[in-house]
Amino acid sequence: MQKQNLSFELTIFDDIDELPQEGKELLLRAVAARKNAYAPYSQFQVGAALLLANGAVVIGNNQENACYPSGLCAERVAIYHAGATYPGEPMKTLAITATSEKYAVDRPAAPCGNCRQSISEYEVKQGTPIKILMMGETGKVLQCNSIADLLPLAFDDSFL
Ligand code: THU
Repeated sequence: MQKQNLSFELTIFDDIDELPQEGKELLLRAVAARKNAYAPYSQFQVGAALLLANGAVVIGNNQENACYPSGLCAERVAIYHAGATYPGEPMKTLAITATSEKYAVDRPAAPCGNCRQSISEYEVKQGTPIKILMMGETGKVLQCNSIADLLPLAFDDSFL
Protein backbone atom coordinates (compact mmCIF):
# COMPACT_ATOMS: atom_id res chain seq x y z
CA MET A 1 0.00 0.00 0.00
CA GLN A 2 1.10 3.55 -0.65
CA LYS A 3 -0.24 6.86 0.51
CA GLN A 4 0.31 10.11 -1.33
CA ASN A 5 -0.37 13.63 -0.26
CA LEU A 6 -1.43 15.81 -3.15
CA SER A 7 -0.65 19.49 -2.96
CA PHE A 8 -0.74 22.52 -5.23
CA GLU A 9 0.45 26.08 -5.24
CA LEU A 10 -2.21 28.62 -4.29
CA THR A 11 -1.28 32.28 -4.59
CA ILE A 12 -3.23 34.61 -2.33
CA PHE A 13 -3.38 38.31 -3.19
CA ASP A 14 -4.66 40.72 -0.54
CA ASP A 15 -6.92 42.38 -3.07
CA ILE A 16 -7.33 43.03 -6.80
CA ASP A 17 -4.81 45.89 -6.73
CA GLU A 18 -2.04 43.51 -5.72
CA LEU A 19 -2.39 41.51 -8.95
CA PRO A 20 0.01 41.94 -11.88
CA GLN A 21 -1.49 44.22 -14.55
CA GLU A 22 -2.67 41.47 -16.92
CA GLY A 23 -4.54 39.63 -14.17
CA LYS A 24 -6.06 42.80 -12.78
CA GLU A 25 -7.34 43.86 -16.21
CA LEU A 26 -8.84 40.43 -16.79
CA LEU A 27 -10.54 40.39 -13.40
CA LEU A 28 -11.98 43.85 -14.10
CA ARG A 29 -13.44 42.44 -17.32
CA ALA A 30 -15.05 39.73 -15.20
CA VAL A 31 -16.45 42.38 -12.84
CA ALA A 32 -17.98 44.16 -15.84
CA ALA A 33 -19.36 40.86 -17.18
CA ARG A 34 -20.94 40.13 -13.81
CA LYS A 35 -23.24 43.12 -14.24
CA ASN A 36 -25.03 41.40 -17.15
CA ALA A 37 -25.66 38.18 -15.27
CA TYR A 38 -29.25 36.98 -15.45
CA ALA A 39 -29.78 35.65 -11.93
CA PRO A 40 -33.33 36.48 -10.80
CA TYR A 41 -33.65 33.25 -8.80
CA SER A 42 -30.40 33.06 -6.83
CA GLN A 43 -29.63 36.79 -6.90
CA PHE A 44 -26.02 35.62 -7.05
CA GLN A 45 -24.28 37.19 -10.03
CA VAL A 46 -21.12 35.65 -11.38
CA GLY A 47 -18.84 37.10 -14.05
CA ALA A 48 -16.05 35.33 -15.91
CA ALA A 49 -13.41 36.59 -18.32
CA LEU A 50 -11.22 34.22 -20.28
CA LEU A 51 -7.93 35.32 -21.81
CA LEU A 52 -6.92 33.40 -24.94
CA ALA A 53 -3.42 32.95 -26.35
CA ASN A 54 -4.23 35.33 -29.21
CA GLY A 55 -5.02 38.08 -26.69
CA ALA A 56 -8.79 37.93 -27.11
CA VAL A 57 -10.90 38.10 -23.95
CA VAL A 58 -14.16 36.17 -23.95
CA ILE A 59 -16.65 36.91 -21.20
CA GLY A 60 -19.48 35.00 -19.58
CA ASN A 61 -21.99 35.43 -16.80
CA ASN A 62 -24.53 33.12 -15.22
CA GLN A 63 -27.76 32.69 -17.10
CA GLU A 64 -30.57 31.25 -14.99
CA ASN A 65 -33.85 29.65 -15.95
CA ALA A 66 -37.24 29.11 -14.31
CA CYS A 67 -36.43 25.44 -14.81
CA TYR A 68 -33.39 25.73 -12.53
CA PRO A 69 -31.12 23.02 -14.01
CA SER A 70 -31.42 24.60 -17.45
CA GLY A 71 -29.39 27.61 -16.33
CA LEU A 72 -25.65 27.81 -16.90
CA CYS A 73 -22.73 29.09 -14.82
CA ALA A 74 -20.64 32.06 -15.91
CA GLU A 75 -17.51 29.96 -16.41
CA ARG A 76 -19.15 27.58 -18.85
CA VAL A 77 -20.85 30.40 -20.75
CA ALA A 78 -17.35 31.87 -21.23
CA ILE A 79 -15.45 28.73 -22.16
CA TYR A 80 -18.14 27.40 -24.49
CA HIS A 81 -18.40 30.80 -26.13
CA ALA A 82 -14.60 30.74 -26.60
CA GLY A 83 -14.74 27.19 -27.98
CA ALA A 84 -17.45 28.27 -30.40
CA THR A 85 -15.79 31.53 -31.46
CA TYR A 86 -12.08 30.70 -31.39
CA PRO A 87 -11.89 26.92 -31.87
CA GLY A 88 -8.44 25.54 -31.06
CA GLU A 89 -7.15 28.80 -29.58
CA PRO A 90 -5.45 27.97 -26.27
CA MET A 91 -7.08 29.31 -23.12
CA LYS A 92 -4.61 30.98 -20.77
CA THR A 93 -6.39 32.46 -17.77
CA LEU A 94 -9.96 32.41 -16.47
CA ALA A 95 -10.93 35.14 -14.00
CA ILE A 96 -14.07 34.66 -11.91
CA THR A 97 -15.91 37.05 -9.60
CA ALA A 98 -19.22 36.88 -7.76
CA THR A 99 -21.59 39.19 -5.97
CA SER A 100 -24.96 38.78 -4.31
CA GLU A 101 -27.99 40.96 -3.74
CA LYS A 102 -28.42 39.21 -0.38
CA TYR A 103 -25.04 39.65 1.30
CA ALA A 104 -21.56 41.06 0.72
CA VAL A 105 -19.41 38.44 -0.97
CA ASP A 106 -16.01 39.18 0.55
CA ARG A 107 -14.36 35.83 -0.18
CA PRO A 108 -13.34 34.26 -3.48
CA ALA A 109 -15.93 32.28 -5.40
CA ALA A 110 -14.47 29.02 -6.68
CA PRO A 111 -15.93 27.29 -9.75
CA CYS A 112 -18.49 24.56 -9.12
CA GLY A 113 -17.70 20.93 -9.85
CA ASN A 114 -19.45 20.92 -13.21
CA CYS A 115 -17.43 23.94 -14.33
CA ARG A 116 -14.17 22.38 -13.13
CA GLN A 117 -14.89 19.32 -15.27
CA SER A 118 -15.80 21.47 -18.27
CA ILE A 119 -12.69 23.65 -17.96
CA SER A 120 -10.56 20.53 -17.50
CA GLU A 121 -11.77 19.20 -20.86
CA TYR A 122 -10.17 22.17 -22.64
CA GLU A 123 -7.01 22.07 -20.54
CA VAL A 124 -6.47 18.40 -21.41
CA LYS A 125 -7.30 19.07 -25.07
CA GLN A 126 -4.82 21.95 -25.44
CA GLY A 127 -2.10 20.35 -23.30
CA THR A 128 -1.24 23.58 -21.47
CA PRO A 129 -2.53 24.81 -18.10
CA ILE A 130 -5.44 27.19 -17.68
CA LYS A 131 -4.74 29.55 -14.79
CA ILE A 132 -7.69 30.40 -12.54
CA LEU A 133 -8.21 33.71 -10.70
CA MET A 134 -11.02 33.84 -8.14
CA MET A 135 -12.55 36.76 -6.26
CA GLY A 136 -15.80 37.61 -4.50
CA GLU A 137 -17.03 41.15 -4.91
CA THR A 138 -14.20 42.45 -2.73
CA GLY A 139 -11.36 40.98 -0.73
CA LYS A 140 -8.67 38.44 -1.39
CA VAL A 141 -7.96 37.03 -4.83
CA LEU A 142 -6.89 33.42 -5.17
CA GLN A 143 -4.83 32.14 -8.07
CA CYS A 144 -4.12 28.55 -9.00
CA ASN A 145 -1.90 27.60 -11.89
CA SER A 146 -4.09 24.96 -13.47
CA ILE A 147 -7.67 23.71 -13.27
CA ALA A 148 -6.12 20.31 -12.50
CA ASP A 149 -5.21 21.75 -9.10
CA LEU A 150 -8.91 22.21 -8.37
CA LEU A 151 -9.90 18.87 -9.90
CA PRO A 152 -7.34 16.22 -9.01
CA LEU A 153 -7.83 12.75 -10.51
CA ALA A 154 -10.05 14.22 -13.21
CA PHE A 155 -11.95 12.04 -15.63
CA ASP A 156 -10.78 12.65 -19.20
CA ASP A 157 -10.82 11.21 -22.69
CA SER A 158 -7.98 8.79 -21.92
CA PHE A 159 -10.55 6.56 -20.24
CA LEU A 160 -12.74 6.33 -23.33
N1 THU B 1 -22.72 29.93 -10.43
C1 THU B 1 -21.79 30.26 -11.37
O1 THU B 1 -22.08 31.00 -12.33
N2 THU B 1 -20.55 29.77 -11.23
C2 THU B 1 -20.15 28.94 -10.23
O2 THU B 1 -19.06 28.42 -10.25
C3 THU B 1 -21.04 28.70 -9.09
C4 THU B 1 -22.46 29.07 -9.31
C5 THU B 1 -24.08 30.44 -10.60
C6 THU B 1 -25.09 29.40 -10.96
C7 THU B 1 -26.36 30.01 -10.46
O3 THU B 1 -26.86 30.88 -11.45
C8 THU B 1 -25.92 30.84 -9.28
O4 THU B 1 -24.52 31.00 -9.40
C9 THU B 1 -26.23 30.18 -7.93
O5 THU B 1 -25.76 28.88 -7.88
